[in-house]
Amino acid sequence: MIETEYQTDFFERTITLKEAWMRSEEEIEKLLNNLEKRLGEGKTALVTSLNIDEEPCLKVYKKKENGIVYKVSPKTELDKMIELQNLGNDIGVFVPEPHLVGNHDDLEFILMEKVKGYTIKDIVTNNIELPANFSLDDFIGRVKEFLARMHEKRIYHRDLHWDNIMIEKGTGKIYIIDFGSSTSSFGDDESEIYREKTPSGETITFKTDEDEFKEVCKELRNYLLTN
Ligand SMILES: Nc1ncnc2c1ncn2[C@@H]1O[C@H](COP(=O)(O)OP(=O)(O)OP(=O)(O)O)[C@@H](O)[C@H]1O
Ligand SMILES: [Mg+2]
Repeated sequence: MIETEYQTDFFERTITLKEAWMRSEEEIEKLLNNLEKRLGEGKTALVTSLNIDEEPCLKVYKKKENGIVYKVSPKTELDKMIELQNLGNDIGVFVPEPHLVGNHDDLEFILMEKVKGYTIKDIVTNNIELPANFSLDDFIGRVKEFLARMHEKRIYHRDLHWDNIMIEKGTGKIYIIDFGSSTSSFGDDESEIYREKTPSGETITFKTDEDEFKEVCKELRNYLLTN
């Protein structure tokens, strides 16, 4: 049985997807038990495609023997994505629209919009062609503007590596994904924003979003120079 812990009003707005979800619960169970239609995999989750019309995807959190490996709860991750919807629409930077957080047996998942494109890592390591009108300076300018707006809203991504930024095929729309390490801050002290104590008492230090993004730009620049 699939249990829904939380859902946005997406299903009320999109009746066909609601029907598809109801119809395909069995298929979703199959996917959760056998995650073969993989779109990607990170440290904490597997992301897999659904076979229904509007093509959302499932981010399914991996389990570790002694607990779940995610850093923030899926609900917190979904809340961040909701807060950031529309923030960068005018500058062509998007965050996938989240639909719901649910669980099945001991697996937790987020159902969200599937980005029909590639991560910067995919592009660089698999030699994927960028949209014809792609400009690196333009890309950098847009993402920097998005980061500034996000930080103004006191949200920090804290995991902005090359596999967490995607470019949509054909359109070139930029997507920032994976808010699984993100945080909200009400202080101004950056060293606190980018530092966290784990339940075991260890202190983790994150790179700043700006520094991580610089690394991504470096990879992309090298790729463009050699291709
Ligand atoms: N909405 C999406 N649409 C399409 N592909 C996605 C989407 N979300 C994630 N992916 C793919 O799945 C991969 C893993 O997802 P995600 O980054 O959310 O997992 P993670 O385990 O939290 O990653 P990390 O190792 O960065 O912590 C991504 O790098 C990307 O390739
Ligand atoms: Mg990731």
